[in-house]
Amino acid sequence: MKALIVYESMYGNTRAVAEAVAEGLSPAYETEVKPVTETTADDVGRADLLVVGAPTHVHGLPRPATRKSAAETAASDDALALEPTAQQTGLREWFEHLDRGAGKRAAAFDTRLSAPPLFTGRASVSIAKHLRKSAFEAVGEPTSFLVDKQNHLLDGELERAQAWGRQLVA
Ligand SMILES: Cc1cc2nc3c(=O)[nH]c(=O)nc-3n(C[C@H](O)[C@H](O)[C@H](O)COP(=O)(O)O)c2cc1C
Repeated sequence: MKALIVYESMYGNTRAVAEAVAEGLSPAYETEVKPVTETTADDVGRADLLVVGAPTHVHGLPRPATRKSAAETAASDDALALEPTAQQTGLREWFEHLDRGAGKRAAAFDTRLSAPPLFTGRASVSIAKHLRKSAFEAVGEPTSFLVDKQNHLLDGELERAQAWGRQLVA
């Protein structure tokens, strides 16, 4: 069985979580981790399980304006490195062209600041809605992995992402 983990990421945290989720999914699944910019309809078609993740921007999925703002922040902060595909298109745009899932299993995650969700929003909720609208069957609950105000994943979050991947198998 194949699992495709599709992510959008500006600073690399969501990519790192995607890779950790893939570790949790294997060996039950043959896994592939891909940035959304490189993920085709054929990739999705070949997968038995689709896992989709994004950073939370302004309470939801990134938009062109928030990607630009994130890039500007990185330009003035030596501690932040932009992902190679960061300033291209994102999941919000990708979902507009996603083929219907016809009941294929799918799960959603995000990264966001460590604070109550009421204050932060959760991109994973938006991802889950898009997946449902495209007739994918939800596996597990939309889940957040947390970063600090300097955009570094909190200790233990990658281990939690691995464990979440194992739970998706179960
Ligand atoms: C423009 C912008 C808007 C953001 N808005 C939110 C937000 O509304 N809620 C939140 O929890 N985090 C917010 N964040 C923090 C991001 O969630 C955090 O940078 C992201 O999880 C890091 O993931 P990445 O390294 O994959 O880009 C925002 C970050 C940026 C750059």
